[in-house]
Amino acid sequence: MAVQALGYLGISTQNIDEWSDFATRQLGLQLVDRAASCRAFRMDDRRQRVIVDKERPDAERFFGWEVADAASLDALAGTLEAAGVAVRREPAALADQRFVRDLISFRDPDGNRLEAFYGPLLADTPFKPGRNISGFRTGALGMGHVVLMVADFDAALAFYQGLLGFRISDFMRKLKACFLHVNARHHSLAIFEHPRQGMHHLLMELYSLDDVGQGYDLARAHGDRVKVSLGRHNNDYMTSFYMQTPSDFLVEYGWGGREVDVATWQPIEMDTLASFWGHDGLREAIRGNAPPPEHLPPAPPEGRRAPVQVIEGNIARSIHPIIDNRSHPSCGKPIPARDRARRPDRESTFPSAVCRSARTRRSGCRPVDTSSRRCAAISA
Ligand SMILES: [Fe+2]
Repeated sequence: MAVQALGYLGISTQNIDEWSDFATRQLGLQLVDRAASCRAFRMDDRRQRVIVDKERPDAERFFGWEVADAASLDALAGTLEAAGVAVRREPAALADQRFVRDLISFRDPDGNRLEAFYGPLLADTPFKPGRNISGFRTGALGMGHVVLMVADFDAALAFYQGLLGFRISDFMRKLKACFLHVNARHHSLAIFEHPRQGMHHLLMELYSLDDVGQGYDLARAHGDRVKVSLGRHNNDYMTSFYMQTPSDFLVEYGWGGREVDVATWQPIEMDTLASFWGHDGLREAIRGNAPPPEHLPPAPPEGRRAPVQVIEGNIARSIHPIIDNRSHPSCGKPIPARDRARRPDRESTFPSAVCRSARTRRSGCRPVDTSSRRCAAISA
């Protein structure tokens, strides 16, 4: 599989101050670079994940897709060129701006600017969220997913599946919609054939359901920011809501997405996009200003449900480890390096933020109150 994850997103807008406020106070991103015409934001250990730029052509976006290494990048460039896609080897100066080792750029059949890169640079300081959240579920799953409205579904699918190596998670034939994965995240990309092309939304997944609920409260207090109410999707099982950004796309803010087994997953044909519950406004959000197609989601079927996708981070840890793993979240006392539990499989370093009883006795702090979901270290 050539592409491994969604690495970053670039947004062009004249509203960079509005974007800064939205990204930090609503989403919980960390503002790390403030220039006259550009803002960069972190959401984990990467130097940046979201770049907001007002000097690019209005509404131009770029999607950063991560590959494993230089050989993978060369191989992808060769595949694209062999298929007649124009590929630009970008200069080192742009790689420096993106905080990656190297990148190429090209366009998909709808003209979206895509960048493929390897070697993202990590920050040397812990992630400090813009508001009180536990952290974003990223790591090997990438920064989230994007949904694109495309003019020619078959052409887009051939491009992403055939050239970039995306694999189908599930699809809807009559809607001409497809959800595709490049790692264990159920989908890193979805494409919908639609009369109005462009980016529909970006998903960001939180470690804590409470972060999503508190984000929902914030958004509801902010005029008509919420465009799709809280609900639970029937394919990736994400509990989420959608809010309007200062640009013309939405952010889906969610928790508890399922993972797929990349080695064994077989594409599933969906009979509806209707959520298990909630997500009022999703039909309208998909439809936009276009005339209502007859294949929009029908009423939710009764009795459909799925287990909550609980992972370690959902129930046991107080914070995302990338934020800070050097101190106990309850008392702030240092955690010795030997006690920083690691889970080296999927999500890079995975230190435990739970004060275990033995460690608690050694350090003398009280057990973590996991209901608080808050780390004193990030408020310092
Ligand atoms: Fe989504």
